[in-house]
Amino acid sequence: MGYLSDMPEIVTVQGDITSQEVDAIVNAANNSLMGGGGVDGAIHRNGGPAILEECRRVRHEQYPHGLPTGRAVATTAGRLKARWVIHTVGPVYSEEKEASQLLASCHMEALKVAEELGAAEIAFPAISTGVYGYPLEEAAEVAMSSVATAPSKISKVRFVLFDGDAYDCYSRAARASA
Ligand code: APR
Repeated sequence: MGYLSDMPEIVTVQGDITSQEVDAIVNAANNSLMGGGGVDGAIHRNGGPAILEECRRVRHEQYPHGLPTGRAVATTAGRLKARWVIHTVGPVYSEEKEASQLLASCHMEALKVAEELGAAEIAFPAISTGVYGYPLEEAAEVAMSSVATAPSKISKVRFVLFDGDAYDCYSRAARASA
């Protein structure tokens, strides 16, 4: 009896996460969930006001003090091709072990939320590697190992990298974790 590996298929693509045709895209948000720049800005800009409206409701009903770093919560994806946006808050880079644990938690919590939604395919950006200053190599390693080891029924995980350096780095890390 062969054992079907429960590890999801992991692919890396270079592009804009807001144009991905997957069930759920992950947003690199901040604790306020009230939008920002980078991925956060692109998702709210292209997805439209319905996303922010739902983020306001999430804040009011579930997270009055903000979404803690490492946690994840889903909203509508508004006008985007995806059905859901899963907002997660990455850690600001530090050499402390806690930062990599929080970054791993972003990926595992997002996978858990995606599974609860019934999503089959999810797209991640390079969380924390922009404004939050996480070095690409380190972030890629944490991302791949957490996705590879998270007990999840999500069959396909796509990392969507905006620039060439991030694409090369995450692709190397994906090959290394296969
Ligand atoms: N699609 C895919 N990746 C993107 C896109 C996009 N449209 N725009 C930016 N990126 C990439 C960046 O190049 C970077 O590699 O996403 C990665 C994460 O960068 P940020 O968006 O700056 O996210 P992060 O480093 O986690 O910082 C989060 O930035 O935008 C604010 O509100 C956000 O305060 C929060 C902080």
